[in-house]
Amino acid sequence: HPFRPDSDFYYLPGLDEPEAVAVLAPGHRRGRYWLFVRPRLPEREMWEGPRVGLAGARATHGADVSLPLDDLEPALERLLARAPVLHYTAGRHPHTDRVVERVLRRVRRRRGRGRPELRELAPAVHAMRVIKSAGEVRVLRRAARISCAAHRAAMGVVAPGRFEYEIEAVLEYEFRRRGATGPAYPSIVGSGPNACILHYDRNRRRMRAGDLLLVDAGCEVDCYSADVTRTVPVGGRFTRAQRDIYELVLAAQSAALARVAPGRSFMSPHQVAVRVVAEGLADLGLLPGSVAEIIETGAYRRYFTHRTSHWLGMDVHDVGPGAGDGRGLRLRQGMVLTVEPGLYIQPGDRTVPRAYRGLGVRIEDDVLVTAGGREVLTASVPKGAVAVERLVGAG
Ligand code: GLY
Ligand code: MN
Ligand code: MN
Repeated sequence: HPFRPDSDFYYLPGLDEPEAVAVLAPGHRRGRYWLFVRPRLPEREMWEGPRVGLAGARATHGADVSLPLDDLEPALERLLARAPVLHYTAGRHPHTDRVVERVLRRVRRRRGRGRPELRELAPAVHAMRVIKSAGEVRVLRRAARISCAAHRAAMGVVAPGRFEYEIEAVLEYEFRRRGATGPAYPSIVGSGPNACILHYDRNRRRMRAGDLLLVDAGCEVDCYSADVTRTVPVGGRFTRAQRDIYELVLAAQSAALARVAPGRSFMSPHQVAVRVVAEGLADLGLLPGSVAEIIETGAYRRYFTHRTSHWLGMDVHDVGPGAGDGRGLRLRQGMVLTVEPGLYIQPGDRTVPRAYRGLGVRIEDDVLVTAGGREVLTASVPKGAVAVERLVGAG
């Protein structure tokens, strides 16, 4: 696997090198920010490329104290001689886990049981990560901009007879040539029945006129992700049934986007998307019962199978609050989330007319919560039905 830094680590020193440990020691007389890194070693650097080294850890990454990683164990033992608490994320890096366990055992033997206390680091870092700084927003905007350009280019080469992987190749070519690291997650290019497979990423099918094509792809820039989905007609024209479903998902997405604003509940976009979808499915006769029944019984979940939003940032499904039903959770300025309703009617679904079977539609944008409401970071890929039809195959 290619190396990619741990997001919680990269968030703090901004260092993307393997085998590095940051220690924050508030009030320490030598400095509060310690970085342990691999020392520079010309015979290794000839194989692996340059390392930041001890001097670079201070000069480039702002550390007060930098030491070779091999000194972590004795240094940590001294740092913990008086500290009341160690905040640490256990279970992710076995080597560091063992160092920390040994150090804690020795220090606690001297200081008495339970001192220092061991606490989870993640909640503190995740509480910071969910609110994006101006600098983070700049990087997220760039990831969004590149992803949008890639989607537009990809739509331009969609045509009957092409393979899904050709579209994937165009997306990823555009990511790289525009300076992104690469895809932030395996690109989903699902045509025809594959549009109904939520995590489809084999991307091997030959597309046919009359198919819908669902493309869910986003790039990573500097460890920050975009996450964008568009659905287009392979032949350049939606059929009547495809257009029914497409317009319904688009209406649900527009309504959900309008609910993104500071002070609103995190669940508000999803709730309105569910209402719009339920009304549409009832109108089209695709689900029996009243709109209220469709919502209360959860019948809509047969076709709208996932939530509307997740946090976005260094991870595609970024960390942040929202465990449970998320109802008590309010949106705040600086949060970034996706808005991505979808409808998926399985090919074998005999409860709907034939024309609707095997249709899968998702429309996904990335949204920043601003003081006045929202900024849709991925607005530059068309999604109106007519605009989409015009773009398909135009490249
Ligand atoms: N691409 C993953 C998601 O949309 O959540
Ligand atoms: Mn998403
Ligand atoms: Mn996605």
